[in-house]
Amino acid sequence: MSGDCVCCAGECAVAEAGHVGPEMRFLKPFRDKRRDSRSHQLAKGGAEPRGTGASGNRTEPIAAPRVLSRRDGALPAEHLPLILEVAPNADYALLDSGAGQKLEQYGPYRIVRPEGQAIWQKALPAKDWDRADAIFTGDTDEEGIGRWRFPRTPLGETWPMKHDGIDYLGRFTSFRHVGVFPEQASHWDHMAGLIAAAKRPVKVLNLFGYTGLASLVAARAGAEVTHVDASKKAIGWARENQEMAGLSQKPIRWIVDDALKFAEREERRGSRYDIVLFDPPAYGRGPRGEVWQLFEDLPALTDLCRSILTPKPLAVVLTAYSIRASFFAIHALMRDTFAGMGGTVESGELIIREKSAGRALSTSLFSRWVA
Ligand SMILES: C[S@@+](CC[C@H](N)C(=O)[O-])C[C@H]1O[C@@H](n2cnc3c(N)ncnc32)[C@H](O)[C@@H]1O
Repeated sequence: MSGDCVCCAGECAVAEAGHVGPEMRFLKPFRDKRRDSRSHQLAKGGAEPRGTGASGNRTEPIAAPRVLSRRDGALPAEHLPLILEVAPNADYALLDSGAGQKLEQYGPYRIVRPEGQAIWQKALPAKDWDRADAIFTGDTDEEGIGRWRFPRTPLGETWPMKHDGIDYLGRFTSFRHVGVFPEQASHWDHMAGLIAAAKRPVKVLNLFGYTGLASLVAARAGAEVTHVDASKKAIGWARENQEMAGLSQKPIRWIVDDALKFAEREERRGSRYDIVLFDPPAYGRGPRGEVWQLFEDLPALTDLCRSILTPKPLAVVLTAYSIRASFFAIHALMRDTFAGMGGTVESGELIIREKSAGRALSTSLFSRWVA
């Protein structure tokens, strides 16, 4: 998720709320009245009052703000830095990078996109780059596919893709994303392994789930999945992917909601999960305009993720991107939050290994608690 847009999905709830346009990437997050319902208090003293969170939905009673305090108990073991790498494979490859761009193979297509981190030189000759099927130009204010150029043949908005035998659709989105974040595959494999090894029914919650690849991987591995995203459009795409993957019979609940509000409700209702994935943007919006700001809201959401675990949980996986922070920050948050739970907190970066010259492209920070 190397994107630098404020809300990484592009066609997400921020866009749906009408804040569309390239300038969105540089908007300073703003406060609005609804922020009051998101205030999380720091408790003084050792009590551990886990108040129910507030809801921005006017039809629901406003509950007391969540009170955060440091958890008691021994800190989990730690493992860091852990660099999780996606190598070039038959479904996806970072072919080359350099001079502020990256050249990737997504199934049948070669795609060129901007990549601010690629401050080195391209390793492949120009003729390899010139064979690209799609180039993100972003040079119009138009939405959608209009921001892409197709030098060889005009292409449709979507195309068939595969991840490890799961069929889904790649898509040219107006925010240069292509409907999948391949670096997440390291987490997906790890999660699928945990589900298979559990040899019992496993419930997975995928917050900020976007087009649903993680949900499909979990469902295929045998889990019962709840997938939450603020964007109706993204949920529509995820459902299409479920059909495309031939996994329609698998138990996946697709929910359009604000991630924090949903987690608060699950806590109140006593719904519990064995695995929670959360991959929040730096800034986003819930479907009713609820403002998500990572630095403000992540501590409360992480705390909630702990509260909604089953008595024998397997893992909680956090990814963060496009933020000015080190993985040490989310590591400390996760370790403190999972104090008293045993297990290990592993933290580091998700990287993609380039095929041409073996350079690593870092896409995101992560921290995961594993029982
Ligand atoms: C980059 S995507 C996550 C990618 C996903 N984990 C994957 O691997 O495909 C971030 C998602 O968060 C969603 N989002 C933004 N703000 C949200 C909020 N307040 N509640 C729920 N989802 C939100 C966006 O619609 C978007 O789909």
